[in-house]
Amino acid sequence: MKINFDQAIERKHTNCSKYDGMTASFGRNDLLPLWIADMDFPVPEEVSAAIAKRAEHPVYGYNIFPEGYFEAFAAWEKKHHDWDVKKEWVCHTPGVLTALSNAILTFTEKGDNILIQPPVYFPFSSTIEALGRKVINNQLIYRDGYFTMDFDDLEEKAKQAKMFVFCSPHNPSGRVWKKEELDRVEAICRKNDLLVFSDEIHSDIVYQPHKHIVFAQLSDWSRDHCIVAMAPSKTFNIAGLEMSHISIPNEALRTPYQYLLRYGLHVANANSCGIPAAQAAYEHGEEWYQELLAYLQANIDYLDAALKEQVPQVKLVRPESTYIPLLDMSALGMTNDEMKAFVINEVGAALNAGSTFGPGGEKFMRINVATQRVHLETFVARLKEAVGRLQ
Ligand SMILES: Cc1ncc(COP(=O)(O)O)c(C=O)c1O
Repeated sequence: MKINFDQAIERKHTNCSKYDGMTASFGRNDLLPLWIADMDFPVPEEVSAAIAKRAEHPVYGYNIFPEGYFEAFAAWEKKHHDWDVKKEWVCHTPGVLTALSNAILTFTEKGDNILIQPPVYFPFSSTIEALGRKVINNQLIYRDGYFTMDFDDLEEKAKQAKMFVFCSPHNPSGRVWKKEELDRVEAICRKNDLLVFSDEIHSDIVYQPHKHIVFAQLSDWSRDHCIVAMAPSKTFNIAGLEMSHISIPNEALRTPYQYLLRYGLHVANANSCGIPAAQAAYEHGEEWYQELLAYLQANIDYLDAALKEQVPQVKLVRPESTYIPLLDMSALGMTNDEMKAFVINEVGAALNAGSTFGPGGEKFMRINVATQRVHLETFVARLKEAVGRLQ
């Protein structure tokens, strides 16, 4: 490996949520930070260089997107997902959640039902509710350490919904939906004329042999009825630069969507450093990205094996995608509140509580493995001791 992902990096005092915002979320700042979904790794050198070069010019006014920006994104999608994104399909938003809000405001009315699949990324439900729409839950099934969809329930719930917020790959279950599963989702959405907001922000962080399929690639119908949300933020660890790409192949959807973005929310402009950074990531980040995937995979393998050997009461739900998998803590026999308190007070770690992700998340904690291996080793050692003290 050329890149040393084991190298420690000090993130405190950079205004970062994971370290500097810990007290606000956990009441103290001395926990092992394995929560919020960003990585403790420096970005590819070319990304920092692109920001430094742009920063040399002392005017940070309004921006346009250079031609090469969209070309870089399209080339990345072609190479990694065999998807031909057309430049004119792509709308910029600062975040995928901004894109979700814009979709909800553009295509639904107050009181409409919007379908999600919990346990799922928690801002889906809060966004839907904050905008005065109603959440309908199609809860995933968890069996033998693996999440699947409840298609019978989805058939029923789809009848009442106007829009489906689909998480593909799915955070936090770590599932990369298979072709057969996607085809069934597509058929149900088509039958019920649902608009699909396909959140594919994790689509680059996929482990062998799994393969992500873009929802818009499934059929002519899916292409014309979906909004595909992607971003370089998870892939290259640049969430703070606020760059996302929202692809809408169908012009009849894209036109009203863009109208609200530009003239209602006023978020179509982009960050002066974000544009060159994202472009550099797509153009020059391949080697870094491949090494990142290998490092993450090795961290997952380590955590899985170490827990099996040293703390068999806690099981890793092996992820097919994402660096934020779930730990199944059900064998500890604790209530949700007891489990959260145990992890903070006895293990000394900051993890996301599974219950935050909605129904079905109660017996899990979510761990962020995108950190130096030594932190995972510390976590396992502390967990082992804390579980030992329970007996
Ligand atoms: C599924 C999913 N969607 C969206 C986001 C956040 O997107 P953004 O920060 O671009 O709004 C996350 C972050 O963890 C996520 O996991």
